[in-house]
Amino acid sequence: MDDLKIKIAPSILSADFSNLSRDIKAIEKEADLIHIDVMDGHFVPNISFGFPIMKALKKITKLPLYVHLMISNPELYLERFIDAGADILSFHYEATQHVDMLVTRIKDKNVKAFLAINPHTPVELLRIFLSKLDGVLIMTVNPGFGGQKFIDYCMEKIKILRSMADELKPDLEIAVDGGINMNNVEDVVKAGANVIIMGTEIFGSSNPNDAILKIRERIKGV
Ligand code: DX5
Ligand code: ZN
Repeated sequence: MDDLKIKIAPSILSADFSNLSRDIKAIEKEADLIHIDVMDGHFVPNISFGFPIMKALKKITKLPLYVHLMISNPELYLERFIDAGADILSFHYEATQHVDMLVTRIKDKNVKAFLAINPHTPVELLRIFLSKLDGVLIMTVNPGFGGQKFIDYCMEKIKILRSMADELKPDLEIAVDGGINMNNVEDVVKAGANVIIMGTEIFGSSNPNDAILKIRERIKGV
């Protein structure tokens, strides 16, 4: 994974929606992507936001948008999220019977497909079609809420996936989402992740751009 760039993706779930413009400015200088958590109150026990927020974001930032769908029946909405400006699109393995079909639909639109998996889903299941994916999103908390604790056994999943990718798809991007902070980010990168999604640690800081710089400093040389 030597040439895979480490990307920091602040999750706006932890931003202040009454000051979204201000909060985007607060990360825009240092962030690589903006992570957008879409929740439907069905696949996960929480409801967040959807197209109107993406539309608003498109007006105020040029950063690429990484959309994480935590919704049932993602097949009903893929193209709408792509039309709304998704640069990377994740749906959940557990949310559909048609993983291959949905990955194909995303890639046909020239958008990156990162398949998301819940903590209980073994990464080994992805082996057979790993080469078809641009990335995998490993959830390291139960999806639905920011500010939860990293589930320790998920670290092993990152390592297993990276070694499978070394063999089958060396440029596979591995995104990790949930409970990542200053104390565990180094281990997450060492395990093989290169897209680091963080909500609380970045937006909970009094200076989010600085927080990103400190995170980069912490993982420098890993
Ligand atoms: C959880 C979301 C995450 C969340 C991460 O379901 O997918 O993206 O916002 O937030 P923290 O970093 O606070 O765990
Ligand atoms: Zn997410």
